[in-house]
Amino acid sequence: MEVVIVPDAEAGGELIAEAIAALLRRKPEALLGVATGSTPLPIYQALTAKVREGAVDASKARIAQLDEYVGLPQGHPESYRSVVLREVVEPLGLTEESFLGPDGTAEDVQAACDEYDKALAWAGGVDLQLLGIGTDGHIGFNEPCSSLASRTRIKTLTQQTRVDNARFFAGDITQVPHHVITQGIGTILDARHLVLLATGEGKADAVAATVEGPVASVVPASALQLHRHATVVVDEAAASKL
Ligand code: GLP
Repeated sequence: MEVVIVPDAEAGGELIAEAIAALLRRKPEALLGVATGSTPLPIYQALTAKVREGAVDASKARIAQLDEYVGLPQGHPESYRSVVLREVVEPLGLTEESFLGPDGTAEDVQAACDEYDKALAWAGGVDLQLLGIGTDGHIGFNEPCSSLASRTRIKTLTQQTRVDNARFFAGDITQVPHHVITQGIGTILDARHLVLLATGEGKADAVAATVEGPVASVVPASALQLHRHATVVVDEAAASKL
């Protein structure tokens, strides 16, 4: 695992956007796995700027979603599909045709999960998967004690994650769904390159456990230690307990 310490979130965003641009120059149709939350936004902004300046052509890129809430109505602004379309797909000048994501509105949720795993495989697998990290060490929505071999499936959120994510629902925790679909840890590990960005003091414990602790399902992000090409980019605050 490679750990890169950068001065701040903007520098982390720029560094990772350049890695994505390099991938797209090498493989224009690359499948980019994207994460939601606040942390990756500087990456998407820096990548969008590069596309607009003509520094990289993203027109053939394909985008895959990491996780999704279950039960939010189609088009809800905080469904991860809406967030990814708004923050990544549209700014890059792409359309929904370049986008793969699990159906959080499906009646048979497990069938939707299985279909999504198949769709990722048919698409040739994820070339570069972006990840954030929860304060409890979760990746995607794989909460602590998720199986390290898990595939895409339905999960129940912990109270902590619902509290953390209430800010996207006007601070009203009753609006945060209890259930989610997430790529499993095994699914995530199938990507060719994993890039985790963590910024801010609040992530320092989770980062230390991920990088320096044992590989353990209680810290799902520690599974990155099992991957042959994993990069952890942290700002100085998130690196403060390393
Ligand atoms: C959610 C997402 C994760 C994300 C995490 C941290 O739980 N499912 O993919 O990494 O939030 O979000 P933030 O970057 O806003 O701290």
